[in-house]
Amino acid sequence: MSAASLGGRRIVVSAGPTYEDIDPVRFIGNRSSGKMGFAIAEAAARRGAQVVLVAGPVSLPTPAGLERVDVRSARQMREAVIAQLPADVYIGAAAVADYAPAEIAPGKIKKKDEQLTLALVRTPDILAEVAVHARRPTVVVGFAAETHDVEFYARGKLEKKKVDMIAANRVGVSGSGFESDDNALTVYWRDGALALGPAPKTELADQLLDLILARWPA
Ligand code: C5P
Repeated sequence: MSAASLGGRRIVVSAGPTYEDIDPVRFIGNRSSGKMGFAIAEAAARRGAQVVLVAGPVSLPTPAGLERVDVRSARQMREAVIAQLPADVYIGAAAVADYAPAEIAPGKIKKKDEQLTLALVRTPDILAEVAVHARRPTVVVGFAAETHDVEFYARGKLEKKKVDMIAANRVGVSGSGFESDDNALTVYWRDGALALGPAPKTELADQLLDLILARWPA
């Protein structure tokens, strides 16, 4: 495995889920462990990059040699990521909640009726915002977790969110994906694609960084 230096590059990585609070004791979240994003941040730091890891609520130790900023909600993650620009590369590996409660109840919501309706509102799309920002990083990479028509949706995201690469989780590969130490990705860019893995997320992280370096040399 090659390990070309990333010395002098500033890389911002977002990782993990976001938690959208409903009341002081409940939230809407998702099953992201943060392992893929943490592996990317760790690999980039090991290769000499100046790395900022914006992490949602995960139970993972902070990798050596990087700055970690902990956040909880999509809104907080957006603030933290935008505050880190400019950067050379942004890798959005976080599983950002798409909707958040319109209001956070100040006290615990008590059970009462048979049904409870929660009003939800869209969260900010951090990846799409970074991709059109005045301080846009040179390379903007997103992730996609799809269960079907993976290429169709991944290529759609490239266009719609104006990003340079989409790393799509290959579903149907046993032992890969959520909460696993292994994963399989197909990485798409405007005029190409490459399948990586199945492999440990630490190895995939280095392969993804190699791919970024190959396409956007210093
Ligand atoms: O649209 P979808 O959620 O499938 O896109 C996934 C990609 O977009 C991931 O890179 C994720 O980090 C990013 N995203 C984001 N902000 C959102 C939703 C997704 O940055 N609100």
